[in-house]
Amino acid sequence: MITKEDVLSLKKQKNAIILAHYYTLPEVQEVADFVGDSLGLSQKAAQTDADIILFAGVHFMAETAKILNPSKKVLIPDMKAGCSLADGCDAEELAEFMKDYPDHKILAYINCTAAVKTMSDIIVTSGNALKIVNALPADEKIVFVPDRNLGDYINQQTGRQMVLWHGDCCVHARWNASMVHELKAKYPNAQVIAHPECKREVLELSDFVGSTAAMLKYVKASEHQEFVVITENGILHEMKKQNPDKIFYSADNQEACICRSMKKNNLENIYQALKEETPELILDEETIEKAKRPILKMLELS
Ligand code: 13P
Ligand code: SF4
Repeated sequence: MITKEDVLSLKKQKNAIILAHYYTLPEVQEVADFVGDSLGLSQKAAQTDADIILFAGVHFMAETAKILNPSKKVLIPDMKAGCSLADGCDAEELAEFMKDYPDHKILAYINCTAAVKTMSDIIVTSGNALKIVNALPADEKIVFVPDRNLGDYINQQTGRQMVLWHGDCCVHARWNASMVHELKAKYPNAQVIAHPECKREVLELSDFVGSTAAMLKYVKASEHQEFVVITENGILHEMKKQNPDKIFYSADNQEACICRSMKKNNLENIYQALKEETPELILDEETIEKAKRPILKMLELS
């Protein structure tokens, strides 16, 4: 069995950095140099001077790391760690869709493929979407891809009327109002905090809406003791670590709380990937160049 120490010593030997999303398994978060939300992870990927970036997350996140720091070898423990949002927005279909909106800019949630990024004018994450949209001219015509729930939330919050692509997250979109009502009834003293990938009916019942990093910040600063956490369960590891005296509740419904792709990362495949330096995330130069522009715009505005 591979231990934490095995991974840490191999990581040092290879001059590698391990970046992990908050949704990964606790043991994966414990070997990471940095654990964060999509925005924080892309900022770290852009800055690192390690030789290897081992990305414990999903495929589009590793792609983003490669786009931002192409001279590094980017490893992903399981190439099949996909994301329903990225997988549900094919670049060719998007090109077809855009024929109806020739004067619209494409605003893309970072949860999309590199090919979609090459077609986009600007990228956002759930951590900076409102700030970036508010900074755009009021009369800018926008198509938002691929998350209709995040897009709807941005429209609600900013008063925009962005056209929305029809994608959703196969985890967050499972939540509905009756699940939230049930948890509220069960835990009447708890604050409800939710990720903006959830449907409007869920967000309207929540006390706070934000990215994974924003949820962590909110809980830490809050005077409340109990929280219903409406996002992927992996975040509870860091939340409990930062707030040992607070209590967190989630739904019993595994499908609404577990991202199977994030859970594909484990100590065994991380060790193996570092040892063999494979699977490596490869992108052609043209894709990297074109996809980099809208991400850099995002980083400037963040
Ligand atoms: P965050 O950027 O909030 O971490 O979200 C990433 C993600 O995949 C949410 O499902
Ligand atoms: Fe994609 Fe949803 Fe998994 Fe996040 S939780 S990586 S949006 S499938």
